[in-house]
Amino acid sequence: MPGSQKAIAATPEIHQYLVHHGRADDPLLEELARVTRENFPAVAHMTLPLEEAALLSFLVRLTAASAIVEVGMFTGSSTIALARALPPGGTVLTCEIDPRVVEIGAPYLERAGVADRVDVRVGPALDTLRALPATAHLDLVFIDADKPGYLGYWEELVPRVRPDGLLIVDNTLFSGDVVDPEPDSKAAAVHAFNEHARADERVELVMVNAADGITLARRRAV
Ligand SMILES: C[S@@+](CC[C@H](N)C(=O)[O-])C[C@H]1O[C@@H](n2cnc3c(N)ncnc32)[C@H](O)[C@@H]1O
Repeated sequence: MPGSQKAIAATPEIHQYLVHHGRADDPLLEELARVTRENFPAVAHMTLPLEEAALLSFLVRLTAASAIVEVGMFTGSSTIALARALPPGGTVLTCEIDPRVVEIGAPYLERAGVADRVDVRVGPALDTLRALPATAHLDLVFIDADKPGYLGYWEELVPRVRPDGLLIVDNTLFSGDVVDPEPDSKAAAVHAFNEHARADERVELVMVNAADGITLARRRAV
């Protein structure tokens, strides 16, 4: 094993502790998570964890990102986290294929006070991304949709992110299944994406062992 290994297993107590001390408590997102569980119990685990929502807001503020694209809105926890931190005039364009989840999330965008700066595009994300201007105009992107689609989204988005812009990719450890010698198709897709991103000289990247694994990539000037 190269280097030392210091990640701490996120027991429920540790999770509660880091939400509290990381100031990630968020009554609106907690209510949205509860409503999501009630409406979509089978897939409610896809909701962004509170501490990751806080991280997204932090990164948007830190980078002063104004032009943001999100792939995978679901009921909108990450959309709210991104949009809340926008500077005046900033926008989040978010892609979501399932209109039923958008319908549940829409009132929460209103209540978060961000509906006026969020552009929801319902349909296959790849079509939405391909229709965007081809220039490097984006400050920050967040990829969190279907895992077999990650590579395609990455390839559409990397050229559209400005030099020093940020790409954030969620679930890149995929519950640890990326190291499974016989991964299922989704874990295999995430692993293939990780291999691809690692070899991509257009970005500088780090992988963070937080939540379900988060890859942060800075677009290099070319
Ligand atoms: C992991 S969830 C996103 C979670 C969300 N970011 C949050 O904060 O709660 C993935 C979402 O991607 C959507 N999705 C799957 N395939 C898609 C596609 N081809 N185009 C657009 N959205 C897609 C799913 O419907 C689902 O809502």
